Amino acid sequence: MRIAVLAGDGIGPEVTAEALRVLDALALPQVELVHADVGGVAYHRHGHPLPAATLAAARDSDAVLFGAVGDPTCDALERHLRPEQAILGLRSELGLFANLRPAKVFAGLEHTSALKPEIAGAIDLLIVRELNGDVYFGEKGTRKLADGRRQGWDMMSYAEDEVERIAHVAFRAAQGRQGRLCSVDKANVLETSQLWRDVVIEVAAQYPDVALSHMYVDNAAMQLVRQPGQFDVIVTGNLFGDILSDQASMCVGSIGLLASASLGARTTAHGTFGLYEPIHGSAPDIAGKGLANPMATILSLAMLLRHSLGLEDHARRVERAVAAALADCILGGDLGGTHGTRAIGDAVLERLS
Ligand code: NAD
Ligand code: IPM
Ligand code: MN
Repeated sequence: MRIAVLAGDGIGPEVTAEALRVLDALALPQVELVHADVGGVAYHRHGHPLPAATLAAARDSDAVLFGAVGDPTCDALERHLRPEQAILGLRSELGLFANLRPAKVFAGLEHTSALKPEIAGAIDLLIVRELNGDVYFGEKGTRKLADGRRQGWDMMSYAEDEVERIAHVAFRAAQGRQGRLCSVDKANVLETSQLWRDVVIEVAAQYPDVALSHMYVDNAAMQLVRQPGQFDVIVTGNLFGDILSDQASMCVGSIGLLASASLGARTTAHGTFGLYEPIHGSAPDIAGKGLANPMATILSLAMLLRHSLGLEDHARRVERAVAAALADCILGGDLGGTHGTRAIGDAVLERLS
């Protein structure tokens, strides 16, 4: 089984290194690692954020472990050369349309949430974010209007088959959890969202055991803070899912805790091909200082073991070690603690057995 490791920029390599130490400690004899450049570092070395060799390495693997991309020195580049295009390119080129972002409060960590402990304690939700469509991948541009003003524009759209396939993923996820699915859209304003809602309702006929509800995204943002315990599975589009998942992370306690799996239709010998990454970015403000919380990436490794390598027991072992370290107050600065990246990795390693 081959894992492509794309560490990327900023804190990407720091958090990925800790996940790789955990993987190493699991001593899986059948796993081979292939490292490749991605993002700003790839642009600086090879002139492109997603070199053909990196895409090929990802494609030729059973799973991709991804750190983060983003480099402030690249922000003025033409868009197609910016680091962020690498992750967008991987998601679309590899057909990874379903992004699973679980958010659960760890026992003992209720007080680190931005919410009151009794409200935060009830959080156990899964955001199913569509990842190959929406305004992210529509035509876009800037143009001069007739009167000389500049205008920027981005086309938002969803085709019905794109909504159908992510709806199926979300309904099945809800079946495996508490059986409740909330579809989040902006159907009161957007045609894209009206189609989204119509198609989700059509797909729901195949899942009579799942209780489907709908919520406008502005209300969903509010409800996530008011009473996050009401949510089981949330399904939403690419842009809304991006925003709501960062928000959910602070309800849990820190963006340094939330992992993700991006899956598509391709299967591997033991599961589904996927890309696994923390939901956070390259965090240039703390990069290189050993301050980044690696838990999100270690938990992403657990998702990789589960979904792509079929190693459920190993995945649980890693998740239990993370939970045990957090319960013992091994916390980074993002959670009000004093532990650095390496110390947090050490604490997880000590609790692996
Ligand atoms: P960010 O997630 O990188 O950082 C936001 C804030 O959270 C920062 O203050 C950062 O220090 C903190 N933070 C993030 N991860 C942390 C961790 N593991 N431990 C402790 N603190 C953490 O978002 P941003 O600042 O908006 O973006 C920075 C760059 O990352 C941009 O170039 C952006 O495009 C990129 N980005 C990439 C990804 C990705 O690779 N998938 C995701 C989000 C943002
Ligand atoms: C994420 C990031 C990306 C996104 C950016 C870097 C393109 O914010 O993975 O959440 O918007 O999807
Ligand atoms: Mn994001």
